[in-house]
Amino acid sequence: MKKWFAVIGNPIAHSLSPYMHDYWLSSQNINASYIPIQVEDGKLEQAVQSLKLLGCSGWNVTVPYKEAIIPFLDQIDESAVGIGAVNTVVKTESGQFVGYNTDGLGFIRSLGQTENTNRILILGAGGAARGIVYAFKQLGYQKLSIANRTKTNAEKLVQELQFGQAITFQEAEEQLQTFDIVIQTTPLGMKNNTKTLPINLKGIKENAIVADIVYNPLVTPFLEEAEKYNVRTINGLGMLVHQGALAFSYWNGSYPNTNDMIQRLTEQLG
Ligand code: ATR
Repeated sequence: MKKWFAVIGNPIAHSLSPYMHDYWLSSQNINASYIPIQVEDGKLEQAVQSLKLLGCSGWNVTVPYKEAIIPFLDQIDESAVGIGAVNTVVKTESGQFVGYNTDGLGFIRSLGQTENTNRILILGAGGAARGIVYAFKQLGYQKLSIANRTKTNAEKLVQELQFGQAITFQEAEEQLQTFDIVIQTTPLGMKNNTKTLPINLKGIKENAIVADIVYNPLVTPFLEEAEKYNVRTINGLGMLVHQGALAFSYWNGSYPNTNDMIQRLTEQLG
């Protein structure tokens, strides 16, 4: 039987995952397809039962179901337990459905070379920040600060993950010179979200990495501001592609070409 994979979420029409996975499947001559499925409010359990029943080999999970799907799976990998959310489901040979989270590691892979990046500043303390902070902890990083509009939310994250230090935006600005990497994890700067973060990058360390997890637009106002300084900027496409590549490797046993995909998507979105 032809294998098939899916992505579930709501809305799902604009997901780039079907394009990405279909391209990788065909470029590796794997006879399978990948389909987007919109799951309506209150229908998640039925949707998961249907995916299992209809022989889906694995699927991605996106907003708003990353947390809600957990009770409907047979096992949750350490990555998803730590983050408290699942973005990838894998069907094992014995027919069990296991939840993973590839978002945080996907983000870190998108950074490429990270030697000499010791001190990390995370801006924002929502779900996306959580995945990234968890991945840095797992990889053995030690110096990480989380700056957030609501400091108590950053404190909560620090406490739950037992990692990092919570600070305000003002404190982040005062300490800016000490960070090797600054990561914007909030939805600010996304198309239709014109608000920008109340942080000024003046004084940022030379050759620091400045990353934004937003990829639409490719250059957010935050990255535009960063480009005024002598830093390396990274947009959110790499995270999208690497979280997908990790999922692909769990399903198919091979790692797809990520640089080529980043280039293709950059052309499409640019
Ligand atoms: P996620 O999908 O990552 O959970 P979210 O819930 O949409 O994202 O956004 C959460 C993050 O964006 C939080 O860090 C939030 O700050 P608060 O904890 O103070 O709410 C941040 N955020 C959202 N709107 C913001 C704004 N106008 N200014 C600064 N931060 C903002």
